[in-house]
Amino acid sequence: MHIGLIMDGNGRWAQKRGLPRDAGHIEGMKALKRIIRYSATVPEVDCLTLYVFSTENWRRPQVEVKYLMNLLASRTVAETPFLRENGVRILVRGDLSGLPQKPRQALEKLVADTAGGKNLTCVLAVNYGGQDEIVRSVNRFIQAHPGQAISADDIRQNMDVQVPPPDIIARSAGELRLSNFLLWDSAYAEIYSSPDLWPDWDSAQIDEVIRVFKSRNRRFGGL
Ligand code: IPE
Ligand code: IPE
Ligand code: MG
Repeated sequence: MHIGLIMDGNGRWAQKRGLPRDAGHIEGMKALKRIIRYSATVPEVDCLTLYVFSTENWRRPQVEVKYLMNLLASRTVAETPFLRENGVRILVRGDLSGLPQKPRQALEKLVADTAGGKNLTCVLAVNYGGQDEIVRSVNRFIQAHPGQAISADDIRQNMDVQVPPPDIIARSAGELRLSNFLLWDSAYAEIYSSPDLWPDWDSAQIDEVIRVFKSRNRRFGGL
C-alpha cells in the first residue's frame, strides 16, 4: 500500500517544551528516520509520500525557510548511507527548479544514488503543491501537443512521478485539511488524522494507519 504522510506539528512540539521551532524540525527529522526504517520492514507498505515543504511554506519567516532548506540539503547528503542500507528508493515530487541550488543538487544526487532500493519507495514532496503539480503537468502536455484537448490520463502521465495514488493520506498534529497535498491523487484516498505531533511518531502510528485503512469500506462510487 501507498501511504501519503502530512508531517505536521514540529513547531507545536517545540513550543510545548519552550524550545525554538528549529528544535522541532530536528526532532521531526528523527521521526522521519524512524518511520522510514520501520516502513521498509513492513511488507504491506511499499510506498510513502512525505510532505516535506509546500509551495505555501515560503510564506514563513525567512530565517525558518533558510533553516529548513539548509537542513534539507545537509540531511539529504548525510542520510544517503542510511537510505541505501534500508533498501529505500527516493523519488522527488514538486518544482525542484524553485529550490536553492544546494538542496536541489543534493536531492537530484540522492535520487540517482538510491535508484536500486527495493524495500520501499519514498517520494519526497518538496516545493510541492497539488495545484502547482496539475498546472505544470498541463503545461508539459501543451508544450508537447499544442492545440490538443487534454485527458485525465494525459494529466496523470505528465505528473512529476509515476507512482500509484495513495491508498490513505495520514496527517499528524490533528489538523483536518489537505493543505494542497496530492490534490489529483487524493480523489479516492482514505483520510486519517492523528492528534500526535509529528516528532512523536513511531512505528505505533504507522501500525494504526494500516489498521485504520484495513477497516475502511472502499466503494469508489460503486455499491
Ligand atoms: C511541519 O511542522 C513541518 C513543515 C511544514 C516544514 P510545522 O512547522 O508546520 O509545525 P506547526 O504546524 O507549526 O506545529
Ligand atoms: C503542511 O503543513 C505542509 C507540510 C507538512 C510540509 P503546514 O503546517 O504548512 O499546513 P497548514 O499551514 O497548517 O495548512
Ligand atoms: Mg504546520
